[in-house]
Amino acid sequence: MITILRTIAEVRAWRDSLPSTEKLGFVPTMGALHAGHISLMELARRHADRTIASIFVNPLQFGPNEDLSKYPRPIEQDLALLEAAGVDAVFLPPVHELYPPDASTFVTEDSVSSHLCGAVRPGHFRGVTTVVLKLFNIVMPDLAVFGQKDAQQCVVIERMVRDLNLRVQILRGPIVREADGLALSSRNIYLEPADRQAAPAIFRSLEAARKAFEGGERDAAALAAIGRASLAGEPRISPQYWEVRHPQSLEPIATIGAEGALLAVAAHLGNTRLIDNLLLG
Ligand code: PAJ
Repeated sequence: MITILRTIAEVRAWRDSLPSTEKLGFVPTMGALHAGHISLMELARRHADRTIASIFVNPLQFGPNEDLSKYPRPIEQDLALLEAAGVDAVFLPPVHELYPPDASTFVTEDSVSSHLCGAVRPGHFRGVTTVVLKLFNIVMPDLAVFGQKDAQQCVVIERMVRDLNLRVQILRGPIVREADGLALSSRNIYLEPADRQAAPAIFRSLEAARKAFEGGERDAAALAAIGRASLAGEPRISPQYWEVRHPQSLEPIATIGAEGALLAVAAHLGNTRLIDNLLLG
């Protein structure tokens, strides 16, 4: 049976009960779990002796006009999926357990957070770094797993771990996709049928740029133009950004060199915002 932990004290007692020789792997989530999340649980299980997940829809990372109140919360289904995946424990804190009403201390990463999604979702990464550091301090994992689906989130967390000397190893899990290329996301359920049909054009635009890269194109502006032109062929999709960036600094680059590049896209389909990305090199 999976152990359900609802308070910080319960997590600490569970953590203290583990033999000190065992390695603990942690997968933070906001629930509405799908095969992408489950692949991270499996990655954690391969690298650790025990695994713990968290499900917490973190209010601090949602903007005032975002989908916090309607974010899906199928908790019974999530627990069944975690149990089937062999996860040992899950932390399900109520909001007041993590945020006292007068909480006034936050974690801000100032550089990589400012680009891409950070530029269009002010405060989002401050919410992510704050909750992830809090969760790390509560769970005290040896390793934690994040999905490449949220490439910028991975970069921001890795930077926080380095800059604040956190004793946790970060692993990245590859993007899990539908058969037609659409990256799995808890938000895909919002898509109306015509938008769901149109959505794989996002991945196809990344693939178009990858093909050009494999054909020898190294000019970032040329690759971005190819990706943007490909996406423009799908009128239901309104791109927010389609960028070629340095994979660690997330700064714009002119030419793709030895370090490779991150191709990153954000787009709206109706009221739903989707992101996707691809690493080159
Ligand atoms: P959430 O969106 O629930 O995602 C939890 C983890 O699953 C993240 O690391 C995300 O990158 C990963 N993930 C989502 N879709 C994936 C896919 N198709 N393939 C592989 N991995 C995928 O990301 C968050 O929650 C929050 O910001 C959180 C880190 C929990 C902090 O609140």
